[in-house]
Amino acid sequence: MLKERSLANFFDEYLKKGSVFGDKSRLQTNYKPEDIPHRDLQLEQVGVIIRPALRLERPSNFFVYGKTGTGKTLVVTKMVDFLIETASGAGVFVSSAYVNCKLDTDTVYGLFTTLAREAGIDLPSTGLSTDDVSGAFFSAIDKKKQVFFIVLDEIDHLIKKAGDDFLYKLTRQNEQLLNAQVAIIGISNDLMFADSLDPRVKSSLSQEELVFPPYNAVELQDILNDRTLSAFAEGALETGVVEKCAAYAAREHGDARRALDLLRVAGELADRKSSGKVSIADVDGAEEKIERDKVADIVSTQPKQAQVVLFSIISVTNGSSKFIFTGEVYEVYRRLCQTVGLRPLTQRRVSDILSEFDMLGVITARVISKGRHGRTREIMLAEQAGTVSVRRILQDALGI
Ligand SMILES: Nc1ncnc2c1ncn2[C@@H]1O[C@H](COP(=O)(O)OP(=O)(O)O)[C@@H](O)[C@H]1O
Ligand SMILES: [Mg+2]
Repeated sequence: MLKERSLANFFDEYLKKGSVFGDKSRLQTNYKPEDIPHRDLQLEQVGVIIRPALRLERPSNFFVYGKTGTGKTLVVTKMVDFLIETASGAGVFVSSAYVNCKLDTDTVYGLFTTLAREAGIDLPSTGLSTDDVSGAFFSAIDKKKQVFFIVLDEIDHLIKKAGDDFLYKLTRQNEQLLNAQVAIIGISNDLMFADSLDPRVKSSLSQEELVFPPYNAVELQDILNDRTLSAFAEGALETGVVEKCAAYAAREHGDARRALDLLRVAGELADRKSSGKVSIADVDGAEEKIERDKVADIVSTQPKQAQVVLFSIISVTNGSSKFIFTGEVYEVYRRLCQTVGLRPLTQRRVSDILSEFDMLGVITARVISKGRHGRTREIMLAEQAGTVSVRRILQDALGI
């Protein structure tokens, strides 16, 4: 226990040092920066496609592809907002509704209620069918002579759950509208996604396609430097911190979201130590923490069976980092299933779950040959999955 005097010092120290942050909100994902470095070409491409709306001509529907953190959402929403502003200055009606098909909804009904809400339409809260809601949405926007952009972000997620019929209907909608004209902008991280669409949908939706390339480490540095200008207190970043964040974020593919997260978490770690400065070591700490959180996230959203499998691995491993046999895991898994009241899956199905975990980086698997006795698989728990917090998540989820 700290003595009262040192306790007072403890908080004084904190106050004196102050936070490393200035305007921290600049590091948040939904913050829209003024400048968008290294996306001039993409901003212009989007602008060229959507600008006929300024003359109330219907723009092409189009798709934007690119890996996560390549600026797709930022560039599209910024340009659409900017266009709407310009249009309103010129007395032309242009509107938009944005739906994140991963976060906001997983049904077509949900899609249209979100669109209606975005467009400021009041709907009765119960008793409506999907057709009622889409009908209400379209008749509301058709009251005005306008171009209406529907931005469907992370669209592949909704199509996986709900099929692509609704997209076909959306693209046909203009034939029914008297005043308004609808233009659809689809955004996806999955480059292969359009190939899975019905060819009619594909051709009417991807009249144009843009692919956003990943940023390289130098570009990420520029992006970070731009945003950190007022996100951090003056002199709070030690030399090399921005470079290190950019280098880490460029390792898999140049992901600006990852780079910003690293910098923010590094700042939070520095503040926790009240060191007054963000050091390179804080960036390493941030990288570890983000990886750990990612695993915790994966673990907590797994189906129950997979959680039991993982808990079995953790039990067999018992805190050590060594390879274990999948046979041992299966034995423990069967007993655990009894405890939590689940019917055990076959060894073959458990094997599939293990492959999935391997892909997600929760475990590492290797196949070893046992000479003429055939081959067997050994697995090792990833370091971030062997933590107390992962164990606790599983215990809570399974009630054990
Ligand atoms: N060129 C850029 N300049 C400044 N910030 C950027 C840039 N590109 C992306 N970002 C930021 O990185 C994060 C991820 O960008 P986002 O547009 O959401 O990526 P995507 O939609 O491709 O996954 C957001 O916080 C965004 O503001
Ligand atoms: Mg996005």
